[in-house]
Amino acid sequence: MSEPILLSARGISRSFGGLAAVQDVTLELRQGVVTALAGPNGAGKTTLFNLITGHLVPDRGAVELKGESILRQKPHKVALKGIARSFQDLRLFGSMSVYDNVLAAIEPTPWLWQPGGSSGAAARRLEVERALAATGLEELAGTRAVDLSYAETKFLSMARIIATGAPIWLLDEPASGLDPASRSRFVKLVRDATAAGVTVCLIEHNLDIVTELADRIAFLDQGRKLAEGTPAEILGNAELIAIYFGERRE
Ligand SMILES: Nc1ncnc2c1ncn2[C@@H]1O[C@H](COP(=O)(O)OP(=O)(O)OP(=O)(O)O)[C@@H](O)[C@H]1O
Ligand SMILES: [Mg+2]
Repeated sequence: MSEPILLSARGISRSFGGLAAVQDVTLELRQGVVTALAGPNGAGKTTLFNLITGHLVPDRGAVELKGESILRQKPHKVALKGIARSFQDLRLFGSMSVYDNVLAAIEPTPWLWQPGGSSGAAARRLEVERALAATGLEELAGTRAVDLSYAETKFLSMARIIATGAPIWLLDEPASGLDPASRSRFVKLVRDATAAGVTVCLIEHNLDIVTELADRIAFLDQGRKLAEGTPAEILGNAELIAIYFGERRE
C-alpha cells in the first residue's frame, strides 16, 4: 500500500495478571484507509485501542503518530494530537443535552487559556452544528442524552468525534445493535469522512459492515494478530472464520 502511515503500534503487548490481552501486535493505520479490527470476544481489540490512546500503557512496544512517539502520553494529550475515539459503552453525559454533549467534546477546559476567545467559542458552536447535521441530530439538540433512542446515542457518540475535527478516528463497535436503516446511515457517515481524508480504524462484529467499509482487516484472537489483509483475503479464509464464529459468545 502506498498511502503514508499515520499511526502505528509496533510490537505492543499488555498483560493483566497472567492474561496476555495483547501480545506483540503491530498495526499500521494509513492515511485515508479504513482498517477494521475483527476477532472474537476477548480478542484484545478494545485493549489495543486503549494502548494506542493512552488509556493503558503497553508493557512493551512502540506507538507512533507520524513517526513521533506518543507512548505514555495521557489520553487527552493523544486526543489533542488528532486521534479521536469512541467507547464501546459510549460514555455520554446522560443529563446533558445532545448539543452540550457534542460541545463538551471540543470545549477547552475552563482553567486553560481559551484559544480564539469569543471567536473561538463561535467557531466551536459551528463545529457542533456541523456535527449534529452530519449525524441527523439537529432536531434533538435540546434533548437530554438519557432520553435518546439507542441508535440516537450511537450517532451522538459519532457527532462527538466529528466535532473534534480529528483526522484519525478509532471507533469501538460504533454500529453494534443498529437497525438496518441506521446502519446504512452509519456506513454513509464513515464513507463521507474517509472521502474527506479521515483515517478510520473500526472495531466491528458485523461482517456486512466490515465488508462495506473496510479496505483492510486485521484479525485478532487471544491477544495476537493472526492475519491482516483485504476483506476478501480475511473473510475468504475458512480457518479465521471458524475461529471467529466458533468463539463468539453472543
Ligand atoms: N482492565 C482490565 N483488567 C483485566 N483484564 C482485562 C482488562 N481489560 C481487558 N481485559 C481482558 O483482556 C482480554 C481482552 O479484552 P478486550 O476488551 O480487549 O477484548 P475485545 O476484543 O475488545 O472483546 P469484545 O469483542 O468482547 O469487546 C479479555 O480477556 C478481557 O477480559
Ligand atoms: Mg471490545
